[in-house]
Order: sequence, then C-alpha cells, then structure tokens
Amino acid sequence: MTHVIDLRSDTVSKPSEEMRKVMAGAEVGDDVFGDDPTVNRLEAMAAERLGKEAAVYVPSGTMANLLGLLVNTRPGDEVLLGDQSHIFNYEGAGSARIANVQAHALRNREDGTLDPAEVRAAIRDPNIHTPKDALLCIETTHNRCGGAALPVEAIDELAGIAHDSGLRVHLDGARIFNAEVALGVPAARLAREADTVSFCLSKGLGAPVGSLLCGERDVVAAARRFRKMLGGGMRQAGVLAAAGIYALEQNVARLSEDHTNAKRLADGLRRYPAFAPNDPQTNIVIVDIVEGTLEGWLAAFQQAGVLAVGFGPQRMRMVTHINITSAGIDEALDRIERLVGVTAA
Ligand SMILES: Cc1ncc(COP(=O)(O)O)c(C=O)c1O
Repeated sequence: MTHVIDLRSDTVSKPSEEMRKVMAGAEVGDDVFGDDPTVNRLEAMAAERLGKEAAVYVPSGTMANLLGLLVNTRPGDEVLLGDQSHIFNYEGAGSARIANVQAHALRNREDGTLDPAEVRAAIRDPNIHTPKDALLCIETTHNRCGGAALPVEAIDELAGIAHDSGLRVHLDGARIFNAEVALGVPAARLAREADTVSFCLSKGLGAPVGSLLCGERDVVAAARRFRKMLGGGMRQAGVLAAAGIYALEQNVARLSEDHTNAKRLADGLRRYPAFAPNDPQTNIVIVDIVEGTLEGWLAAFQQAGVLAVGFGPQRMRMVTHINITSAGIDEALDRIERLVGVTAA
C-alpha cells in the first residue's frame, strides 16, 4: 500500500512515542477541583509563555475562542472580526448561538490584517440605536490567509484602535508559535496588547488534544466558570496536559522545519501551470487551481496518496507538520509530477 502523505491539516499530526511515554507517566488529580498538578503546571507555563497572569486548559481551540468571546462581551454586544477569520467561518456560529453576540465581519487583507481605517470606521458611536462594540478579534497566524504571521506592529496598531474606543481585544493565536518562529518575535510580545489570547497544542505542536485561553487572573477565573458550563471541565486531564507540556518544551523550535517544508512544497507546485501556490510564511500552503477542477485534483491527489483539502471554489490547502519530513515533501511532489501529465491533459 502506498504510504499516505497527509497534508490536510497540522491537526492530523500524531503524538510521538516519547510524548506518549510522558503522558502515561503523568501525575494527575481532579482538575475541576484544581487538583491536577500537571494541568496546573501546563497552565502556569502557558501563562508565562504568553505573558499573561493566568491560563485555563480547554479541549479545543474552538472552545478557547468561545470563552474569549464569553468573557469579553455581554449578550447583544457586537464583535468586530475578519471576514476570513476562523471564528467567523468555522466555529459553528458559537458567537451567535452561545455568546449571543453580533459578528461584524471586516475585510481581511491578504496578509491577515484588518485595515485600521476600516476598524475605526466600524466602531459605532454609542447611542440608543446601535449595538455596543465590545470586542475586536485578531488571528495569527492566519489560517485562511495562508498561514500569514501578522507583523507585531499591525497587531499593536489594531489593538490600540480598539482600546482607545473601549473595546477589548481577543487574539486567536491557534498557531501563535508558528508566528513566533517565523517572525523571531516571542509569543508574549505578539500577544502583549491582547486582553485574551488562545493557542492550540494539537496543531503544529503535535499534542493530541488541548488549547489554552490566557489573560488576566479574574478574566481566566470567569472563563473557568464558562468552561464548566460548556462541559469542558475535565477530570484527570493531566494525562493530556502532559503532552502539552512536552509539546511546548520540545516542539516549538522545530516548527521552522515545517515552514521550510511548506516553502519547498509551494516552490515545487509552482513549476506546474495548473497550480498557483502562495509564498508561505509558515506551514500553510494555499494553492489556486488554474487548470482543471479542484474536485478533479483532490481526487487525483488522493488516489496518489497525497491528501489535501478544498479551501474555496478553485483553491486547495496543504499544511506541513511534525509527521512530514522533507523527503515526504519530495515524495509528494514526485507523485504530483506523475499526475500532472495525466490529469491536466
Ligand atoms: C486559526 C484557528 N483558530 C481556531 C481553530 C480551532 O481549533 P480546534 O480545531 O481545536 O477547535 C483553528 C483550527 O484549525 C484555527 O485554524
């Protein structure tokens, strides 16, 4: 059987033997009682890495972002976010259904930023007719914008505009450590102006599950109540948190390999007129299909044992991660080369 090269997402990465050993040996307790020493250690470590007072461990990035909405808003408030953002597109409208806020989507620029002038213009003058603008959400790295790592100056500027008008700021930093490595700017600095920041352990960092929401102590305490309400209070979660500690200690610096592999993949694909890939800054390759159909290429890739996902009408996404080596990228490109002659005709 052909070895499958799975580039659908960095979430498909699997825990290593070493990580599994650490998980098996984790000291645990009941985390809802605050008794799990491994969860407590992960939360302290996360808060420190993100430069915040406290952090809470949750099952997923979606829950971390939802907690970010819940603690920074009241029902009926308005949230400004990017029209390409994960929160707006891929979190089941939890903002509307659970946080009861109105999402006001602003155009994301290609580099994942929002236009400062458009943010300023979107903030409404308070009066009895208008919804109250309570929160601005920013995303880095930006998934739909091809893994763009937002410049720290852009994050600071947008956060400054929000704060000047009394809005709070949530940073969806699901892949903030990819941004840290790509920019050479510590995650804590990237998140400095954000009131809350979420990040994921289960993407490029290679843990099987888990995300964190970081912020001020009282805000995280409020998030902990919402986590319980949503059913995210886990018990002997130290078994999972141990993987997160291992990931933060061992798997951050190596993200640069994923970025190099993504460039190698994009450069390889660019040789074929059928494909117009982005120039990836981190680990996400977005490929516009110029010849043939998305469905045709996805099926052909799958037949050849290369997995990608559709990411728009004529667009596919391929993501590098800890289980993909540079030899794996070369193998994927060899398989695609064999297809190009066949499928593109
Ligand atoms: C930018 C961003 N935020 C949040 C999430 C949600 O993470 P999860 O899948 O753990 O809910 C993702 C997942 O891909 C993401 O890309």
